Amino acid sequence: MIIHTCAKVNLTLEMLRRRPDGYHDLMTVFQAIDLCDRIHLEPADELALTVSGADIPADASNLCWRAAALLAERAGRRPEVALRVEKRIPVGAGLGGGSGNAAGVLGALARLWQLDLGDEELVALGAELGSDVAFFLRGGAALGSGRGEVLEPLPAWSGRAIVVLAPREAVSTGRVYGALRQFRPAAGAASRLLADGLRSGNVPAPEQWLVNDLEAPAAEVSAAVRDDAERLAVLGLSAYRLSGSGGAWFHLADEADSAAVVGRLQAIWPGRAIWVTRPVTYGWCEVSEE
Ligand code: C5P
Repeated sequence: MIIHTCAKVNLTLEMLRRRPDGYHDLMTVFQAIDLCDRIHLEPADELALTVSGADIPADASNLCWRAAALLAERAGRRPEVALRVEKRIPVGAGLGGGSGNAAGVLGALARLWQLDLGDEELVALGAELGSDVAFFLRGGAALGSGRGEVLEPLPAWSGRAIVVLAPREAVSTGRVYGALRQFRPAAGAASRLLADGLRSGNVPAPEQWLVNDLEAPAAEVSAAVRDDAERLAVLGLSAYRLSGSGGAWFHLADEADSAAVVGRLQAIWPGRAIWVTRPVTYGWCEVSEE
């Protein structure tokens, strides 16, 4: 079986408060995009994992490995699968690539092993693996709260291309949260405004909701994010933000403008990866053999 697992951007990301367990309560509108990793799953004698396209460990610390091991344990069976992961989504980017991989492995193995698991059980397993994993089980667009694992599906955002600028260096999510000190008095207002707009089909202009409360702490812990922010500010782009905890950025472009935006970004950062992506209505999908 071969699957594609998506990346996401946070169209809004608002911090509510620090919790006693060390996590943060937040409100966010997730949107899955068609920048994808590819994972091959094949029956095997024991759990095995290889990764290409990114310099990340292919051992028991990898979220794909942990997803397969956790599902097998809960299903009371051996994790007899070989996973081959081809990374295209940059890591340490705030694009949720690892979380999407974990969700795809959970969903695909539940199918392959013919497990009788409900959505809720899978979401609970996903939340054990990471705050964003639950989102990718369903994908599309969703209003996220709690630490990101409490989800309300939304109609996917439509009408625009999402230009994604790759990070210059990987950024640690834990360090960014560690530098967070400011919380909004009316946290959730931007996310609710966008969620209402998506539900009614009448989305207000991005200036009214395009926020990311992790942008300032990310700039504090990463010199690359700080430098990017300074250079992007003078470009005069209309609607861009850091994605999640960074270091990737995204820009909401009109379809007709996306090529011009890419050109302007390439002029500043020749050779840096840039993708013109589209919103999608899923988080992972099965693809046919090639
Ligand atoms: O859940 P996940 O493993 O993806 O989170 C990575 C780190 O980000 C956590 O260890 C925590 O420091 C921080 N985090 C947080 N509040 C959230 C999500 C993540 O503090 N809602």
